Amino acid sequence: MAHYKQTNVLFILLCIYSAAHPRFFNQLYGGERWRDGALLNDGQYTYEVAPVFTVMEKAVLKKMIEMIGWEDGDGLFNAGGSLSNMYAVNLARFRHCPDMKECGMSASPRLVLFTSQECHYSITKAAAFLGIGTKNVYVVPSDERGKMIPGALEELIVKATREGAQPFMVNATAGTTVLGAFDPIHQIADICEKYGLWLHVDACWGGAALLSKKHRDLLKGIHRANSVAWNPHKMMMTCLQCCAFMVRDQTNLLQHCNSAKASYLFQVDKFYDVSFDCGDKSIQCSRKPDAFKIWLLWKALGTSRLAQRVDRALAMAQCSTIYHNIQNIHNKLFQPQPEYTNVCFWYIPPSLRHLPDCPELWEKLHKVAPVIKERMMKKGSLMIGFQPHGDRANFFRMIIISPQVSTEDMDFVLEEIQSLGQDL
Ligand SMILES: *Cc1c(COP(=O)(O)O)cnc(C)c1O
Ligand SMILES: *[C@@H]1O[C@H](CO)[C@@H](O)[C@H](O)[C@H]1NC(C)=O
Repeated sequence: MAHYKQTNVLFILLCIYSAAHPRFFNQLYGGERWRDGALLNDGQYTYEVAPVFTVMEKAVLKKMIEMIGWEDGDGLFNAGGSLSNMYAVNLARFRHCPDMKECGMSASPRLVLFTSQECHYSITKAAAFLGIGTKNVYVVPSDERGKMIPGALEELIVKATREGAQPFMVNATAGTTVLGAFDPIHQIADICEKYGLWLHVDACWGGAALLSKKHRDLLKGIHRANSVAWNPHKMMMTCLQCCAFMVRDQTNLLQHCNSAKASYLFQVDKFYDVSFDCGDKSIQCSRKPDAFKIWLLWKALGTSRLAQRVDRALAMAQCSTIYHNIQNIHNKLFQPQPEYTNVCFWYIPPSLRHLPDCPELWEKLHKVAPVIKERMMKKGSLMIGFQPHGDRANFFRMIIISPQVSTEDMDFVLEEIQSLGQDL
């Protein structure tokens, strides 16, 4: 792909397969994946229509729940992590105000939920979609590494209560989308216990670290969460979509919250164990058997090889080559050593190297990454995302996932960026 010609056909192929190239560092997916998705266009409302898939879903969820450290739990695979987060908000609200299922918004006090400044935009969407209101999402400040500040969380909970609102949930993140930061779950869980709030951990991106003995401490305390979202389609490299939502609960909360008891699907007098008819827990009717993707991969590789992939991606992101090179060769690191595999940095072209750290430098730097990105795409040599963040100028945000990535690729990235940006 590195030297593709820009004919139409090749361009289309590039669009389809560019994410499989080892030098695709553009998003939270990449690498050669199991392309099984198209074969799996089946529904899974009930055991009788998808006996194998419903059993697989249960088996995979059980395994993931074990990794989280819960004794028991429930869950579903959903069409996207964003949807898993919406499930969490809805479920937390149902626990807080069970009457709302029947009486709707008229039974609701003003509810407030808390999430970190770094949170993925899906929280705002969930608040709007579910009638919570985006103004009732209280944004908790994060520190410079992108981690939620527990003291600030508590202050906001007290503030909301003083306003007469009812706090009901806190959303912590294990692996933020931009910086790959992990919120301090134990400290946040202490606060949730103190105020009786639902703790949701969005581990869509960072959940995979649970597989690794070396890195699972990044999610220390996750067993205290009430619910967890974890997307195997990100770091675990299944095909899109493969998104688990899990609940630590033994009261069938998911079922009570979402069930509509459609009598043409979920007859209670079937001859088999109807707890395998998982469809009524979902807000969907047709639902793809996404758990199969991770089931198959897990069977094929086993936990230890999945863990090796995670370890390898982290080792590449934190490897001395890229790390030192970024520091030494006219680049600026956004953060100290990355916590996960999000490597964020600015490239400083020769013409700006004489400038001190001043607004003029940042204004000019802001324009550098978009030009280099354009050049790398037109040349076809690399794919790395760029973005601004808060008041910080455009920087490169390189995501490492694929086990095909080597230290030579890491060297290549910096050399290529330098050669593409020399004249800027
Ligand atoms: C990717 C991501 C999501 C959204 O997942 P989708 O499957 O793309 O909807 C939510 N939270 C975090 C932290 C993510 O990285
Ligand atoms: C929680 O925060 C995460 C990550 O910061 C974000 O992806 C998600 O949308 C938020 N979700 C909810 C339900 O709070």
